[in-house]
Amino acid sequence: MEIFLETERLILRRFTEDDADNLFELDSDPEVVRYANPGGKTRTYEEITDEVLPRFLFEYEKYGHFGHWAAVEKSSGGFIGWFEFRPFAEDLEEIELGYRLKKSAWGRGYATEGSRALVRKGFAELGVRRIVAIALVVNTASVRVMQKAGLKFEKRGMYPMYPDRDMEEVWYGLEKDDFLCASTHLP
Ligand SMILES: CC(C)(COP(=O)(O)OP(=O)(O)OC[C@H]1O[C@@H](n2cnc3c(N)ncnc32)[C@H](O)[C@@H]1OP(=O)(O)O)[C@@H](O)C(=O)NCCC(=O)NCCS
Repeated sequence: MEIFLETERLILRRFTEDDADNLFELDSDPEVVRYANPGGKTRTYEEITDEVLPRFLFEYEKYGHFGHWAAVEKSSGGFIGWFEFRPFAEDLEEIELGYRLKKSAWGRGYATEGSRALVRKGFAELGVRRIVAIALVVNTASVRVMQKAGLKFEKRGMYPMYPDRDMEEVWYGLEKDDFLCASTHLP
């Protein structure tokens, strides 16, 4: 198992070919994908094996230490979802933060714990200059995680993947310099 990051309660590791069932369980739950997949649609097993998993595996080849990371709960050893930490566009110093957890793992601070650790690692070790995160305004849990990870509100606008649903998205961001500055004031 290739570990990318370890926190108090989580291990973030690389996805492997064996994760199709895990990803299917995650993406076949309508509540999980409601504000996270295009059109809020669940995915079929074939979409996982033919599109999602190959894309995740390809990202490691393309970006090395950036990509989607499987989150494992240390206490149970179980897969609980994933964190995304990969180039927003082609700029390798601007990284998008994202997360998707199984419902059974919600509300325990896991998304905050993983996100804070990724932000720290990104700026301290991976040469990241800027981190961005985007969510639908209605996805209050996701927006709250951005805030708790130290990202600041930047703008809001319409979400192209939901043109018919009249949904606005918010963008949050954090620059390395601002993170370092804030860190020096921590107790
Ligand atoms: C978004 C998500 C990852 C949050 O995971 P989580 O581990 O439950 O989040 P945390 O426990 O770290 O909670 C972070 C904050 O959000 C709040 N929160 C959690 N669920 C909430 C909800 N349904 N409504 C409002 N606030 C919520 C928590 O109370 C906490 O804030 P607080 O400390 O001020 O009370 C999880 O809900 C999820 O996987 N959702 C489906 C996928 C998704 O939408 N991903 C984001 C796409 S942009």
